[in-house]
Amino acid sequence: MAVTIKSEREIELMRESCRLLAIVHKELEESIRPGMTTKEIDEKGEKLIHQLGGIPNFKNYNGYPASICVSVNDEVVHGIPTKKRVLQEGDIVSLDAGLIYKGYHSDAARTHGVGQISPEARKLIDVTRESFFAGVKMAKAGNRLFDISNAIDAYIKPYGFGIVRDLVGHGIGTHLHEDPQIPNFAQKRRGFKLEAGMTFAVEPMVTLGGWEVEWLDDDWTVVTADGSLAAHYENTILITDGEPEILTLY
Ligand code: MF3
Ligand code: CO
Repeated sequence: MAVTIKSEREIELMRESCRLLAIVHKELEESIRPGMTTKEIDEKGEKLIHQLGGIPNFKNYNGYPASICVSVNDEVVHGIPTKKRVLQEGDIVSLDAGLIYKGYHSDAARTHGVGQISPEARKLIDVTRESFFAGVKMAKAGNRLFDISNAIDAYIKPYGFGIVRDLVGHGIGTHLHEDPQIPNFAQKRRGFKLEAGMTFAVEPMVTLGGWEVEWLDDDWTVVTADGSLAAHYENTILITDGEPEILTLY
């Protein structure tokens, strides 16, 4: 599939889809507390998506069984919500959520601390979020795709954290995953030229240890190979001739 340029009408629908998703994330963030199960987060998120007039896009995607991916501590992404997993004070929890509005997809992820967390965990969450903004600063028409990847990598490198390589960002629009793939680690090439009207999900996944990940037997949950903590930060963005629009910010 080629990289698509969205029309003004499509961009309006993307904006609305993303605006609704930002509300979902804000509500979920405010609800997080020790003692809550990951299943409760999924139920709350799914209900909210429907109330806002959206359709959860993760549910049944390649067989994924929930609406919100909930990944705790060494789980990087695609954790499956369950009544058995109870959040504890000091955990970090990554919430990845998306929805479809009038045929247009949105996708965003945040990592939150549960109660008081360690300074190392806080740093990881902050650096992961900051690396997104460092990358997206490069996301404007005329620059090249891997300028984004290279800027994310360069931002994280001085901290010595691991950058996950097996999962990457992506184009988004009438499908959750469109071309191109957007790596979060340095590339030797600069990639194609960005054009106004492209919409991407940029999503660095960062660990306190190495970059290597493994899949659990459920074939969804991605964990760090060394058991270190992982954080995830993702927004859907729009390329313009000037500064990019970050569509999933509240
Ligand atoms: N935000 C995720 C991504 O871009 C989508 C989750 S895939 C699902 O990879 F199957 F879990 F929905
Ligand atoms: Co994504």
